[in-house]
Amino acid sequence: SGQPQQTQDAPGGVQDSAFLRACRRETVPHTPVWFMRQAGRSLPEYRKLREGIAMLDSCMRPDLVAEITLQPVRRHGVDAAIYFSDIVVPLKAIGVDLDIKPGVGPVVEKPIRTRADLERLRPLDPEDVGYVTEAVGILTRELGSTPLIGFAGAPFTLASYLVEGGPSKNHEHTKALMYGDPELWAELLDRLAGITATFLQVQIEAGASAVQLFDSWAGALAPEDYRASVLPASAKVFDAVASYGVPRIHFGVGTGELLGLLGEAGPEVVGADWRVPVDEAARRVGPGKAVQGNLDPAVLFAPREAVERQAARILESARGLEGHIFNLGHGVLPDTDPQALTDLVSYVHEQSAR
Ligand code: CP3
Repeated sequence: SGQPQQTQDAPGGVQDSAFLRACRRETVPHTPVWFMRQAGRSLPEYRKLREGIAMLDSCMRPDLVAEITLQPVRRHGVDAAIYFSDIVVPLKAIGVDLDIKPGVGPVVEKPIRTRADLERLRPLDPEDVGYVTEAVGILTRELGSTPLIGFAGAPFTLASYLVEGGPSKNHEHTKALMYGDPELWAELLDRLAGITATFLQVQIEAGASAVQLFDSWAGALAPEDYRASVLPASAKVFDAVASYGVPRIHFGVGTGELLGLLGEAGPEVVGADWRVPVDEAARRVGPGKAVQGNLDPAVLFAPREAVERQAARILESARGLEGHIFNLGHGVLPDTDPQALTDLVSYVHEQSAR
């Protein structure tokens, strides 16, 4: 395994970037900003590059991954890049029969619901994802002092796709397994935690400066159930990458009631969606952690003045906090005008400059 990374370097270096400083709750020249799903369908240059190439195929081509990851950094001047991939890539890499269907999302050919099905979830070997190591290497060279955020799907959100067989509103099969067979459920999440931990380790060892664990659908759970049935697996993922010293971010949608528990799982930064003001989110997360968020991505469809009013409200709410990273409360919507994102980055930088 690799060397723990330095947390300090020369002024102007990647460790001195506004994004990493904010993750460590240090003073910043301006509030850093990046957007979940900043690389993707809102960008015409992305759609052009992806023409005729299936989503999962593009994730396995280091040249394409690097170019797509860099596109929003060049266009918007965001403070961090997020590695272009998908949460199901490590599952594909261990041979799970799945595909990403345009306009639908990840679809699993044979859902995982029994003990025998678990055998299909073998551990991830770093060699299974050599293309990730290669792409991160290209990116850290090209990005210079702009940090690269690696990411993975959290065990619960991955389990939801595997057990349902695709996207789901109610997660009924997933919850049936969780409540009906706690032992099998715990084993499923533990296997997924191992796969996820290895996938994050690969990205960090190749040069990623921070990692985000997406538990997008954790908000479907009551706090007691999250604590008993999900938190241990996510905590295992965070523990497995703790020694590298890179900031770890934990995010889910609709997790207002879970923010304290998302922090308890072990990250340095907790992401919140727009349903809770950032100062209240920070209060729920508790002391010692930075907060990321939380503009409603639908606000970007309103005129520029309205976007700026909502962004100003977030900056005002975050004024007294140590460590705020501006982001959306969920991913960029595909029909977003890219200019609205560029304008928002400038606005956040100007308004927060000190
Ligand atoms: O810029 C970035 O944020 C990096 C790229 C990224 C993708 N997926 C690319 C992608 C990231 C971080 C993800 C994570 C992801 N994937 C999550 C967690 C984040 C979240 O949104 O909550 C989830 C739940 C998934 C599963 C998934 N994959 C969904 C729901 C979809 C959308 C389906 C659709 O078409 O509406 C995907 C496909 C996907 N992942 C696309 C992209 C760019 C679209 C595929 C395409 O361009 O053809």
